[in-house]
Amino acid sequence: MKALVLAGGKGTRLRPLTHTSAKQLVPVANKPVLFYGLEAIRDAGITEVGIVVGATGEEVRAAVGDGSDFGLAVTYLPQDAPLGLAHCVLIAREFLADDPFVMYLGDNFLVGGITGLVEAFGRGRYDAQILLTPVAEPQYYGVAELGPRGEIQALQEKPEHPRSNLAIVGVYTFSPAVHDAVRAIKPSARGELEITDAIQWLVDNGYGVHSHLVSGYWKDTGRLQDILECNRIVLEAIEPDIAGTIDALSETSGRVVVEAGAVVENSVLRGPLVIGADTKIVSSYVGPFTSIGRGCELRNAEIEYSIVLDGSSVDGVSRIAHSLIGRNVQVSRAAGVANTHELMVGDHSRIQVKV
Ligand code: DAU
Repeated sequence: MKALVLAGGKGTRLRPLTHTSAKQLVPVANKPVLFYGLEAIRDAGITEVGIVVGATGEEVRAAVGDGSDFGLAVTYLPQDAPLGLAHCVLIAREFLADDPFVMYLGDNFLVGGITGLVEAFGRGRYDAQILLTPVAEPQYYGVAELGPRGEIQALQEKPEHPRSNLAIVGVYTFSPAVHDAVRAIKPSARGELEITDAIQWLVDNGYGVHSHLVSGYWKDTGRLQDILECNRIVLEAIEPDIAGTIDALSETSGRVVVEAGAVVENSVLRGPLVIGADTKIVSSYVGPFTSIGRGCELRNAEIEYSIVLDGSSVDGVSRIAHSLIGRNVQVSRAAGVANTHELMVGDHSRIQVKV
């Protein structure tokens, strides 16, 4: 069995971060989302992995390399334009050959791994397996309608009026029959070759398509609230580890990770949280469910339930919450007139100020 990991695409919902960076590399507890997927693939016993990359391919290659750090052998499959998930299968035809494979969307976050799914595929002789999970807003996902015996009746991609609340999770297994399906379908209204339509084609043409309900936790990390939630889930189970230094004036409680070279002075750390390598926290409060990246600096700051990427600083600002701060960002207190906000913010940013 091989794996096909999709790490191209546009990432419009996490702009401005994804103008310059791959959305699959946004960190959760200081580790890129994509890495959790690669580890799940390895843990399921798969070693041959094809990664589809687009405009941000260089960054993905730099982060994953040849895959040996994960115990994987990675082949990169460049996609000229994000023409859809089924298009990714089309361009991966040679890499996949006639092997069965698991397709993993690089921005999906699934707790509990994929070993059960891969084993069930081996036993079941299906041509496709999909995972479903109930969601509050099914219109943002592929949606499955099941019959009375749990059989798949219809699959629709982001329907305006969903006929069920069962979203299709971004991890699938396929037999080589899917290659006929992706060649047979036409682009959808949004101009993409949809994997959902390819699976519907398999159903319509009498192939065995099986669905499982996911009992564990799943998120598509495309939106801010989802990535913050993933961060919360991972931090809740993190192993405490203090490799950096915390001075005697500081106070810590809960699950706290302070990576090597990080320095904490005169501060309060209320876990679960992680402070990245070589970061400095001075006279600050870092609250629950917060990941601070590497080489950051917090001074006289308060922050919780947030993610801060590498190289950023917060100086004299309280209290930041529910926030995602990109790389090399400076957040500081304005001098001069009271109640004035001085901003220099990139395109597509979002700022919410309490006045
Ligand atoms: O997350 C689950 C959902 O993923 C499913 O419920 C939907 O049925 C499925 O179509 C997909 O919807 P999204 O709109 O969320 O897909 P997105 O465009 O975010 O792409 C998913 C991943 O695949 C992401 O890592 C980017 C990558 N990708 C996407 C496209 C369209 C590519 O590598 N190439 C592409 O052409």
